[in-house]
Amino acid sequence: MAKDKIVYFCKECGFESSKWMGQCPGCHAWNTFSEEKVTTSGKKNVTNRNIPKPTSLENVSATDEVRIKTDIKELDRVLGGGIVKGSLVLIGGDPGIGKSTLLLQMCKNLSEKGTKVLYISGEESPAQIKLRAERLAAFGNNMMLLCDGSMENIESNISKGHYEVIIIDSIQTMTVEDVSSSAGTVTQVREVTSRLMQLAKGLDIAVFIVGHVTKEGTVAGPRTLEHMVDSVIYFEGDANSGVRLLRGVKNRFGSTNEVGVFMMTGRGLEEVDNPSQLMLNGRPEGVSGSVVISTLEGTRPILLELQALVCETNFNMPRRTAVGVDYNRVNMLMAVLEKRAGINLAGFDAYVNIAGGMRINDPAADLGIIFAIVSGFRNRPIDDRTVIIGEVGLSGEIRGVTNVLQRVKEAAKMGFSTCIIPKSNYDKEMENLNINVIGVSMLSEALSHI
Ligand SMILES: Nc1ncnc2c1ncn2[C@@H]1O[C@H](COP(=O)(O)OP(=O)(O)OP(=O)(O)O)[C@@H](O)[C@H]1O
Ligand SMILES: [Mg+2]
Repeated sequence: MAKDKIVYFCKECGFESSKWMGQCPGCHAWNTFSEEKVTTSGKKNVTNRNIPKPTSLENVSATDEVRIKTDIKELDRVLGGGIVKGSLVLIGGDPGIGKSTLLLQMCKNLSEKGTKVLYISGEESPAQIKLRAERLAAFGNNMMLLCDGSMENIESNISKGHYEVIIIDSIQTMTVEDVSSSAGTVTQVREVTSRLMQLAKGLDIAVFIVGHVTKEGTVAGPRTLEHMVDSVIYFEGDANSGVRLLRGVKNRFGSTNEVGVFMMTGRGLEEVDNPSQLMLNGRPEGVSGSVVISTLEGTRPILLELQALVCETNFNMPRRTAVGVDYNRVNMLMAVLEKRAGINLAGFDAYVNIAGGMRINDPAADLGIIFAIVSGFRNRPIDDRTVIIGEVGLSGEIRGVTNVLQRVKEAAKMGFSTCIIPKSNYDKEMENLNINVIGVSMLSEALSHI
């Protein structure tokens, strides 16, 4: 017999508990438990059920996965070469970052090619979506719109039309009638996703799900949501700058270290083919404390400008600020500078910043941070056409980093004349590039190039 039971769920991570708790044992967040009623069905009769039999892997016929190109190169790249039929993709991101815009643009491209798409929105009216669509340009007739939040209605609509791609905007607004809790709760999100999964796999439809994110930046709702879907993509970026990054964190059909770069404009999201150029735009030349570094976003090297301002302090304790790079790393590198290069920074404030609002945690930026600080400290500019790459160890050694050849190629492509890299990463192939490559092994040796 079916029975109602009260269960408590953590709103942040979906931890389930039979009693209320102040702090979640799963994610350690406070005051996140909410009460939800779940219906447990009685014992099922298993005798007259269709029990599937295991088959040998050899006998399974595999067809090549069919991929639908979205014609948004950056999105295709992150998806691993296009949309896989029958796959479930979760897109998370901060409010207003442009999730709906990206998916609407994708729908436009798909519908123009004749792919039947259904855009289901539970949070916006058709008129609102039309307004956004008008901003993006004209749409074909293959794009259908449905503004509803009931899974039962959606299911019956989907089974009637022959859609190939479906967008759910957003999972937090969808509800299943059998579950009594309100939309966005853990039980609802889990139930809706499992129904969508059955739809996707059963009818071979690609389903895109938009998910809201929590304060910590992960998709709100149960963690199991990320396990249930085939791919998880995060759309991120600085609210003030127009640059948006699309980052794959899970992909059952492709690599996860691919990043798509977009620019938010009045006409929607525009792809950025050359992120380095965008990031180096407007760089001051001949100024002390400014260097160009190279960071890897996925497998793509991007050149960035790193700035440091070093000035005498007015306080007993000098101030250190890091924006875009790790604060502790900057402190560590300053200690290495004091100890290994004999540069006394104790009486100086230091501010380190990545221009353009990017955030990096690539150790290859270490040497660049050191160069910027020394250049700022000595008030001596570094050559504008030099790119600095390398990790710095505590003994002042310059350690090798990954994909240096690619980074040097990017620097050469962008017209830089010199590249300072770790000696251990030196490669004969770099001699054929139109750039002067200097390998350094110790900090003192590197600093002699300033
Ligand atoms: N006319 C415009 N010119 C430039 N940018 C615009 C314009 N209109 C909207 N935008 C940008 O689009 C963003 C909204 O995009 P969108 O609605 O796709 O975001 P979202 O991620 O779906 O948000 P939500 O979480 O609310 O659903 C705005 O934050 C703004 O940056
Ligand atoms: Mg939206």
